[in-house]
Amino acid sequence: MIRICFVCLGNICRSPTAEGIMLSLVGRAGLADRFIIDSAGTGAWHVGQAADSRSMEYAKSQGVGLPSRARQFQADDFSRFDHVIAMDRENLSNLRCLAPSDLALSKLCLLREYDAASDGLGPSADVPDPYYGGAGGFAEVFDICTRSCEQLLETLAADLPDQARGS
Ligand code: 4NP
Repeated sequence: MIRICFVCLGNICRSPTAEGIMLSLVGRAGLADRFIIDSAGTGAWHVGQAADSRSMEYAKSQGVGLPSRARQFQADDFSRFDHVIAMDRENLSNLRCLAPSDLALSKLCLLREYDAASDGLGPSADVPDPYYGGAGGFAEVFDICTRSCEQLLETLAADLPDQARGS
């Protein structure tokens, strides 16, 4: 079982989008029973809320459901997940402060490390926060999360036994 938690600030826009896309990708790959996929926020303002309606509407238009309920990331999530994947450098930095051990630190990365369209520097290291912007921001987040999650799944599936990959 591979356990992944995507983390943004509010857990209503970016990390629920990555979670929904990853759920859809592993389902299509026939690997749903090999993954546990979740999301959380470093902030607590929206705890208990469904994903932002603008994220949900755009994802739905692309055939992807966003089932998450917002929750705040806890330090013990580091023991519940193998990969804790931050949406931007600020959240990565806050997660590093919560990490209780070197093992926990080793589970952290940025989502866009898996995005071929990112050079990993400056703004292109981050999934941009769409919350206070226009509709185009939600489409951009969806596209970035799709590219990144496709590569993430390819990378992680390569570590599964051949039988699980169906080859
Ligand atoms: P997210 O977006 O981190 O992608 O869920 C945000 C959601 C809410 C707020 C900021 C960012 N907020 O300030 O309430």
